[in-house]
Amino acid sequence: MFSLNKFLITLSLVAITLLPVAAFAGDIGHYGIGKTATAKEIAGWDIDVRSDGKGLPKGEGSVAQGEPLYEAKCASCHGLFGEGEGRWPPLAGGEDSLTEDRPEKTVGSYWPYVSTLWDYINRAMPFPAPQSLTPHEVYAISAYILYLNDLVEDDFVLTQSNLASIKMPNEANFYIDNRPDTSNTRCMKDCKDPSKIIIVESLRGITPEQEKEAIEEASTKTTLSAAAIEGKATYTTSCLACHDSGIAGAPMVSDKGAWAERLEQGMDTVVNHAINGFSGDKGMMPPKGGNLSLTNEQVKNAVQYMIEAE
Ligand code: HEC
Ligand code: HEC
Repeated sequence: MFSLNKFLITLSLVAITLLPVAAFAGDIGHYGIGKTATAKEIAGWDIDVRSDGKGLPKGEGSVAQGEPLYEAKCASCHGLFGEGEGRWPPLAGGEDSLTEDRPEKTVGSYWPYVSTLWDYINRAMPFPAPQSLTPHEVYAISAYILYLNDLVEDDFVLTQSNLASIKMPNEANFYIDNRPDTSNTRCMKDCKDPSKIIIVESLRGITPEQEKEAIEEASTKTTLSAAAIEGKATYTTSCLACHDSGIAGAPMVSDKGAWAERLEQGMDTVVNHAINGFSGDKGMMPPKGGNLSLTNEQVKNAVQYMIEAE
């Protein structure tokens, strides 16, 4: 028995592993979905640079080399001195502004690592032509932006080996969030019976049972009796004109207090008044609402609807 089970499990595992291959063979979608990514494709995505410099390509660039590149490719938006043209983001300035009501967050005042600068430019800038810069150009432009922020001297050369060692002024205000994903520890023995655990809706603090009751209550409220359902059409054609809005003193359908009072004289009287008409303190209720072609039954059902409807 055991070995048969094992055999079946092995078989189904084989089937599962074979399935995707069979399903996709010769059926690679328009976007190449289902195809194994080539090393070249992966390299195109794998461009992130870490704060310790891991991921940086070989290269270097000086402040002096960066200046003309920056002026040609970046200054039109970010300003000649990194001050930001118009509403484009500034890249320099804002020192000591982080505790103000309107902090100015720039590379120099806010960013924690030079790797962020290098990666951002390499990945996304210049805005109209992302990933058009060579590594050398990214090093040079990054060096120039550090210079605009007074973080390096004008003879500085940025390289893949010294990048991680440059300290940014705001680094200390960033920290690794090492809180655990869950605050509970896993129970390994004498644990609660899972069927006894009630999941409470976190926003409203309602248990599933309470939710169910509320739904049931709401649905019985709007459930009409058979007579009322019959009467709804009559109400709409012959009674609504006065009783929906309370015209000429007619009790409004929604005014449940008024109907409770009227029902104190007994349902038969109320129906009788609707069929034969009557004049009360509020005004005149015409016989059958003025539609004498209605049967007594239809009028009775219409009354039933008026009493039950919300
Ligand atoms: C056509 C305008 C334009 C040009 C040219 C341009 N950028 Fe940008 N840059 C932007 C915009 C817009 C953003 C903000 C993008 C966003 O928030 O999604 C930005 C953001 C940045 C940021 C991040 C700023 C921050 O604080 O978040 C850096 C750094 C940057 N650009 C560097 C450069 C460099 C270096 C060049 C030249 C190689 C360049 N940009 C060229 C428009 C431009
Ligand atoms: C032209 C307006 C008008 C129309 C149409 C009308 N009603 Fe009325 N109805 C009234 C007025 C006004 C009263 C209140 C009279 C009073 O109590 O002074 C009233 C009262 C009632 C009452 C309460 C009777 C009681 O004993 O208190 C019922 C029941 C009623 N109408 C049913 C109907 C039905 C059913 C229809 C349609 C077939 C209908 N009405 C159409 C004006 C109208």
